[in-house]
Amino acid sequence: MLRDDALHGKTILVTGGGSGLGLSMSRKFAALGARVAIAGRDPDRLASAARLIDPTGENVFTHPADVRDFERVQALVRATVDRFGRIDILVNNAAGNFLAATEELSPGGFNAIVQIVLYGTFHCSLATARHMIDRGAGGSILNILTTYAWTGSAFVVPSGCAKAGVLAMTRSLAVEWATYGIRVNAIAPGPFPTPGAWQRLMPTPEVEAETRARIPLGRFGEHEELANLAAFLVSDAAPYITGECVTIDGGAWMAGGGLFNWLTRLPRAEVKAALRRMRETP
Ligand code: HXC
Ligand code: NAP
Repeated sequence: MLRDDALHGKTILVTGGGSGLGLSMSRKFAALGARVAIAGRDPDRLASAARLIDPTGENVFTHPADVRDFERVQALVRATVDRFGRIDILVNNAAGNFLAATEELSPGGFNAIVQIVLYGTFHCSLATARHMIDRGAGGSILNILTTYAWTGSAFVVPSGCAKAGVLAMTRSLAVEWATYGIRVNAIAPGPFPTPGAWQRLMPTPEVEAETRARIPLGRFGEHEELANLAAFLVSDAAPYITGECVTIDGGAWMAGGGLFNWLTRLPRAEVKAALRRMRETP
């Protein structure tokens, strides 16, 4: 979609870049000429991902960090700047999620998701924007949301609340940081198969089939499609787009809203048993 050198000279920090959609975006950014730093909690996962992003190792950097911890995030930003000289683009992609009946959820479960998604996005945005502001050359931040950020959805209350907060953060910071030349945008994906999401959100083949059947375009998303959109939004090809959230879901949310709401039509005991089985399966 973009020219082969569309991201040449850019340094991009991707949280959760060691797996799933974060890895797919990182590979696309590197293919378009960017230097890519990836962060996550698991160093082995980051190391394997780095080999896929740039087998030479020259244009990829890994730094384990838990985005819930602001000190660790500041160290991540410092280490990336030490390695590549600057950060031009931040992609807030790290997330946690699971399907749970809310009356069975503990405050600790709610906190775990909100800390990763809402606080993690804030920590990374703050630390990176301070660097961008000091440098005086602007930048771009891209937040990965989901379509139930505005519809809400049954069985994913912590994620829905946190993603809605990140949508508000996207729009607020787009206005506030425009004066520094920092654009802030978001992508709201519908379902894209990844091991991380499928292990936590698709308890049975029937749920997967029904979720697919609810998508007007009749299929799940392909990673390349999302990676192309992300590359466009962060690149200099989109200098006048800020505060926008682009949906990429095959038309799913308009056709029904609340991705998992339809599960409320099934017997609740059956749903809870499926969620328990999924949680117990490593
Ligand atoms: C209910 C659960 C639970 C579950 C954990 N908890 N799993 N509650 N149902 N399935 C509760 C625990 O009891 C505990 O609460 C608290 O959550 C923290 O649990 P830990 O295991 O200590 O958490 P931690 O090791 O920090 O791991 C965080 C995690 C885990 C979110 C629970 O799943 C994770 O690391 N996820 C990262 C990757 C991920 O989730 N990827 C999917 C993104 S997909 P107590 O009270 O006992 O302390 C996505 C797609 C959205 O976002 C849209 C799809 C279309
Ligand atoms: P994934 O592979 O599980 O990605 C989540 C990533 O976040 C992992 O690399 C994980 O690495 C990292 N992470 C989790 N907690 C972290 C923490 N505390 N600190 C730092 N990193 C952390 O799932 P995915 O499907 O690719 O999801 C990627 C993004 O897309 C998420 O924002 C998700 O909400 C969004 N999304 C996905 C879908 C979908 O259908 N796949 C749909 C809508 C939105 P570690 O475990 O090593 O830390």
